[in-house]
Amino acid sequence: MSTAGRTSQRVLAAVGLLAMLVAGCRPQVGELWSEHCAECHGEDGRGVEPQRTFYPQADLTRSELIADNARGSLYQRIAFGWGTMPGFKHKMRQRDMERLVDFSIELARRPDGTAANPDERPRRR
Ligand code: HEC
Repeated sequence: MSTAGRTSQRVLAAVGLLAMLVAGCRPQVGELWSEHCAECHGEDGRGVEPQRTFYPQADLTRSELIADNARGSLYQRIAFGWGTMPGFKHKMRQRDMERLVDFSIELARRPDGTAANPDERPRRR
């Protein structure tokens, strides 16, 4: 093999190693969800039993905050907890919790792009 070929092979190996390291340090947001959130909210964000029955907003499509795109309040609830939901600020970096805000909103989005059906939201106020 030519010197150029060997060099480019080394560069590729280095890039691959770097990518692995970066991926290792920074978990994908979907992995964070599976690890910390899915046990109550389900992989799809529709909630698992018995949470769904007792706390309808565990189904993210029924969350008013998500329907309103209220990122600040969503962040607060993920960081400090809300009702039976634990807070995660001691377990996660701020940046990851911010990514989970976006991910939660994304999970609740219907195929037509709307965040949630207002008719299904529980009346709270
Ligand atoms: C132990 C169960 C549990 C875990 C784990 C959990 N949640 Fe929750 N979550 C709940 C419940 C229950 C509610 C509904 C609270 C209510 O309506 O009183 C909720 C509500 C929410 C809401 C909607 C807020 C609202 O009031 O409209 C979001 C967004 C959310 N959780 C995101 C997350 C994320 C992100 C994680 C993981 C980092 C997570 N949850 C982990 C139980 C959990």
